[in-house]
This record gives sequence, C-alpha cells and structure tokens, in this order.
Amino acid sequence: MIPAAISPSLMCADIFRLREIIETMEATGIEYLHIDVMDGVFVPNFCLGSDYCRRLKAKTSIPLDLHLMVTAPEKKLGVFPFGPGDFVSVHYESTPAVADALAQIRQAGAGPLLAINPDTPVDAVLPFLDAIDGVLLMTVFPGFAGQSMVPGSLERITALRRLLDENGKSALRIEVDGNVNYEKAPLMRQAGADLFVVGTSSILGPGNLTENIAKMRRVLAEGGSV
Ligand code: DX5
Ligand code: ZN
Repeated sequence: MIPAAISPSLMCADIFRLREIIETMEATGIEYLHIDVMDGVFVPNFCLGSDYCRRLKAKTSIPLDLHLMVTAPEKKLGVFPFGPGDFVSVHYESTPAVADALAQIRQAGAGPLLAINPDTPVDAVLPFLDAIDGVLLMTVFPGFAGQSMVPGSLERITALRRLLDENGKSALRIEVDGNVNYEKAPLMRQAGADLFVVGTSSILGPGNLTENIAKMRRVLAEGGSV
C-alpha cells in the first residue's frame, strides 16, 4: 500500500498568515502543497496563479502539487515553475490534447496526474495509464472550497484502485480532492486513495494547524490499518 501523504490546499490558507502556515507545514513534514489554478472558463472561478507558484517555490522546499483547472492546459503549462519532485494535474475534461499536456509535464521531470471530475467514468483514464504517475479523483466538482463530497465518491475510489491493480498499475497514486475531512479521509484511504488534498474541511479549518495536521495523520493511519 502506497504510504498516505498530505497536500494542503493553499487556496484555503489565510493569506495574512501564509509564511507562518508554510513554516508549520515544513516543520510537520507535509509532503506537497496543493495549488489550485483556475481560469474562470473550465471552472466558474479564479484562484492562484503562476506568479504565486514562482514566489512560493522560491521560499519553500516542499514540492508543489499543481491542480490546473484550465482549458487547453497544453498551451499554458509553460508559465508555471515545476520540475522533478512536483506533481502537475490536468483535467481529462479540459482538452482533447490530454496526452500532449501529460507529455510536457513528464518532459519537465515532474509527475503527471490525470484529473477526473465526479461525472467522468473512472475508465476514462485507461488510455493514459503509461503516461501518468497517478489520478486526481475529484470528490467535489472543482472550483470552490467548502463543498460537500459528491455521493458515490468512495465507490469511485474503490473502482479506480481496482482498475489500476487489474492493469498492473498498482504503483500509480490516487489523489482525492474535495471535502476531505477527518471522518471521510480514513474511508477514502480504505477505498484506495493515498494522496489527500486537505482544506477547509480539515487542517485549514478551525483549530491549531499543528494539532489539525497530527489529527489528520492519526485518522489516516487508523484508516489504513483496516
Ligand atoms: C476544490 C479545491 C480543493 C478543495 C478545498 O476545487 O480544489 O482545494 O475543495 O478543500 P475543502 O473541500 O476541504 O474546502
Ligand atoms: Zn484542487
């Protein structure tokens, strides 16, 4: 089983405390920083941009986990700073040139992830299994924090993990994004997820960040033991 890793969604972080938040994440061994990028077309919202990513990358050694919720990502990847150790996800629904976008990410030495929305069948990833390091399975419709998990998401995680195993791709990651709270995270873990985007529903919600991170680590460890 792939060890569980945490990727805090920085769109949910208090911008007036960002330095302190990043320092806490460095001190607690957070594995990735999830950066939601939106173009207002693929999703009806705007969010973090390329300059934010560049400044962040210059200040922290925590790898980036870029989530591109943009149309034609193959034409926009060039403005982002990513390389070895980083993940970059592009949406299956966002372009007919998915393979091109994934190849560009691989070419830069980063890990390509294929993101699928809650209404996209999990077998849509089949043609891309050799081109990716994992799948970003959206458990909410992308674009906004603070949503509730789409019903049926746990079953989709289970189905996706089974599909990867059956195709000899058990090493591929399953990242889950949306309403990952302390109750749902262990269930998602048991269903086969290993990379958890955590935002307002858990560690970047109410409470002390260090304590929240420890609580998420604990519930994920308990969930994984089943
Ligand atoms: C949704 C975003 C996520 C996430 C935020 O488009 O990609 O970052 O939903 O976390 P929650 O759902 O906990 O507010
Ligand atoms: Zn995201």
